[in-house]
This record gives sequence, structure tokens and C-alpha cells, in this order.
Amino acid sequence: MKILVTGGAGYIGSITTAELVQAGHDVVVFDNLYQGHADAVHPEAAFVQGDLADQAALKRLFAEHRGIDGIMHFASYTLVGESMEQPLMYLRDNLVNAANLLEQAVAHDVGRFILSSTANLFDDPERMPIDENERIVPGSPYGESKFFVERLLHWFARIHGLRYACLRYFNACGDTPGRGEDHDPETHLIPIVLQVALGQRRHITVFGDDYDTPDGTCVRDYIHVVDLAQAHILAMEALDQLGSRKYNLGNGSGFSVLEVIETARRVTGHPIPHVVGPRRPGDPAVLIASSETIRRELGWQPRYTELEDIIRSAWEWHQAHPHGYAK
Ligand code: UFG
Repeated sequence: MKILVTGGAGYIGSITTAELVQAGHDVVVFDNLYQGHADAVHPEAAFVQGDLADQAALKRLFAEHRGIDGIMHFASYTLVGESMEQPLMYLRDNLVNAANLLEQAVAHDVGRFILSSTANLFDDPERMPIDENERIVPGSPYGESKFFVERLLHWFARIHGLRYACLRYFNACGDTPGRGEDHDPETHLIPIVLQVALGQRRHITVFGDDYDTPDGTCVRDYIHVVDLAQAHILAMEALDQLGSRKYNLGNGSGFSVLEVIETARRVTGHPIPHVVGPRRPGDPAVLIASSETIRRELGWQPRYTELEDIIRSAWEWHQAHPHGYAK
């Protein structure tokens, strides 16, 4: 298939692009390089630098790359904490950018669409682990913006016959030898912990130890980025047969912030000092996924089920790229 990957120079998008190329697909990457890195784009993918807010650039993209069979939409603002400080950047831009993309998709008869959605739809879950029937209570403007896009897709499916899958990721992490996580500023737990191990930070600050969890720190479900990438490919390939779908994507087990730090100490052999700070606004106490639906319907099986293996893959990339990508 010929696949357009928005955000294909970013962390999850670039690794999914590489997996798509390896699986024999043709890939066009569209990325504004706001967070992405040109060096992360697989050399066999076509790369177009551009912004989803720029409708003329999008029109040119579709005019120059005809015959796109499906879109994987990663490009977006993605930080829970930032969205609590700059809500419109999320509520407006994530929605408008997705709407611009969908407008061009239907104008060019692109019938398949995979959305990077999020566990931040489930701020107040009634059951744990969280399955697709859980009620949606976005935990932040970020989560709300993804819910807006899920609703856009619902209407585009109904009115234009689009087939789509919403993949609600829990905590994406881990790296591959060639590509890894490089955000500026970095806000995610595992890369920050590894920066401490590399001597680039003095300590990790734990955001709150008074949550209603066994050790008082937040519990998350960490899923390797390659397993996420494989879920995208399976979902894209199954859309014609199964129709539109929503899948929660995680490993099904939760680890506290302190457990992540302890595991990283074992993997790196570094003491990784930590201090406890205040809670970060927008953080729910516990998020653990039930991914039974995607396992059953698509035969998805994560390769990385052990937190230690996930952190080791990240440690290898961070050691080899202590300052991230060159560009
Ligand atoms: N944390 C710390 N200290 C830090 C960084 C993070 O204690 O310096 C804690 C957070 O409070 C949280 C956990 O580590 O409890 C994980 O935080 P991350 O920032 O790594 O990830 P989030 O859980 O905030 O968010 C990630 C993605 C979101 C997605 C969410 C879904 O960034 O896009 O997972 O669970 F919505």
C-alpha cells in the first residue's frame, strides 16, 4: 500500500515508517519538523516538509503524491502537562490540523485512516484494566483534542464512507537501534531517567507520591514503540475487512514511577537519584490497558512484554545517541 505518515519524523511516526518500509509499503512522510528530526525519516520514504495548518501545502502534497491508499496520522501536540497550560494549542490546533488533513483525504478518495489516539481519554475509569467500553472522560485538553478527532472520524465515516481505526496508546516507550525518543524539551519519564544515568541531569523528580496506589506514585502501562508500530500496520491492513475500529493498546500491566526508576537502575547500573516533587496537573493515578480486543481481532501480540527489555532498548539508543539526532 501507499501510506501517508503525518509526523513521520517524530518518535512513534519515524519508527512506524521504518516498520512500514520493511514490510514492503510505499511511504510518504509529511512533517513540519517542530518536534521531528529529518535524520529520523527512513531514507526509502519520500519526505515532504510541511505543516498541516497550511492548506495549500496539503493540497500540493496530495497533488504530487497521487494514489495514497491510507493515512497514519501521528502529527500532533502530545503533552498532557503542556495542554493544561496552553489549552488552545491543543483544542484548536490538533482539531483544525486533523480537519485539514481529512478534507484533503476525502477530496482525493483516500478511504483508510489510522489515528494516534490516547489513554488520556480515560481520566476516571470505572474498571481496570481499561477496555474500549470504558466511558470517555478526557483528562486534559490534550485528551479532549484526540476525542474531537475521534468524533471527526465518526462523521467522516458516516458521511464519506471513510474506514478508520483509533489506536489509544498507553505509555509509548523504548527505542530501536536506528531510531529513538528525542524531544526538546524532554518530559517523558523513561528518557529523563536515562538522562540521569548518562550524567546529563542530577536527579529525576517524581511528580507526587501521595496517589492512591501501592507506593503512592502514578501507575502506567508501558508499551514498546515497535509493538505500537505493528498495531498500526495490522489495523491498516484489516480496515477493509473489519471496518472502523477503536483499540486500546498497552501491555496490560502497570508499573509505578518508582518501579520504573528501580528497573532503570538495574538496567543501567547507575544509582539514578530521585527526589519527590508536587503532582503534575492532569496526571491520573492509574492507567492500565486491556488490549484483548486487538489481540483477538487482529492477532496483535506485543514482542516486548517485560519492562526491563523495553528500558534496555531505550538505554542502548540513548547511549549510542547521548545528544539525540544531529538534525
Ligand atoms: N513523571 C515523573 N517525573 C518526570 C516525568 C514523568 O514523575 O519527570 C511521571 C508522570 O507524572 C507520570 C509518569 O511518570 O505519572 C509517566 O509520565 P510521562 O510524561 O512519561 O507520560 P504520561 O503518562 O504523562 O503521558 C503519556 C503520553 C501521552 C499519553 C499518555 C497516556 O505522553 O501522550 O501517556 O497514558 F496521553
